[in-house]
Amino acid sequence: MAYETILVETRGHVGLVRLNRPKALNALNSQLIAELTEALKAYDADPEIAAVVVTGTDKAFAAGADIKEMASKSYVEASFGDFIAPWQAVAQRKKPIIAAVAGYALGGGCELAMMCDLVICADNAKFGQPEINLGTIPGAGGTQRLTRLIGKSKAMEMVLTGRMLDAEAAERANLVARVVPVDNLLDEALKLGDTIAEKSKPVVAMAKQAINAAYETTLETGLKTERQLFYGTFATEDRREGMAAFADKRSPEFQDR
Ligand code: CAA
Repeated sequence: MAYETILVETRGHVGLVRLNRPKALNALNSQLIAELTEALKAYDADPEIAAVVVTGTDKAFAAGADIKEMASKSYVEASFGDFIAPWQAVAQRKKPIIAAVAGYALGGGCELAMMCDLVICADNAKFGQPEINLGTIPGAGGTQRLTRLIGKSKAMEMVLTGRMLDAEAAERANLVARVVPVDNLLDEALKLGDTIAEKSKPVVAMAKQAINAAYETTLETGLKTERQLFYGTFATEDRREGMAAFADKRSPEFQDR
């Protein structure tokens, strides 16, 4: 499929999606979300792909949902059209998605990063939920995922004041796994993808599902899910190979089976 608002390329076993509306600071309009979710679904279905990196430009990962597209919507159009619903497809993928954030990740941009499985950021990154300045509130997870990730007080401060977190503060708040120099961001994200690509794809998917259960269910249900998935790895040849390789003191050769 020919895309107009994203650039898609494959680096080895890692898919790379660059948000590409630089003049609008990668504002997330409905076309971009449709193209992004289409590309992520295609990577999920591609047996050669182990992980996907989603990134923007050095100036902006994404400055939010497209305000100009939203501005004229009535309540009925917003609510019954449910224009945020298609975004959920990002969080429903089986393969790990790494958000590589440089510059602004605001509003829907911050929410998109949080829908990904892990976030690394450049030293110039700025995360924020400034919707309050537009007379609205976050609508794609910014009151829910953000609160679970960084806690109530910090989430309240960001959402009620629109205050941004710089890269260091985002790392302290556990919003990002780590901060790297802006020039190294893409390489570091791709390296992470390469490391994941050395593992068993079905087992990686089970690990991702288990961690996500911690954010979506109670502890009791999450622990049950984890145990079922753990036992589920025993149905794979890769689990057998991994443990045999350990005993033989050699590197495992996973076959994704
Ligand atoms: N939607 C639409 N266009 C946007 C945009 C957005 N979210 N963010 C930036 N742009 C556009 C600007 O309108 C501008 O376009 P023109 O050149 O045609 O005027 C272009 O991108 C460059 O932006 P600026 O000139 O404003 O750049 P700057 O460097 O001076 O400021 C900024 C950068 C601080 C990020 C500023 O652009 C800004 O505040 N953007 C809006 C951030 C925001 O409020 N995001 C939340 C959106 S609502 C949301 O996301 C709801 C949700 O939860 C789903």
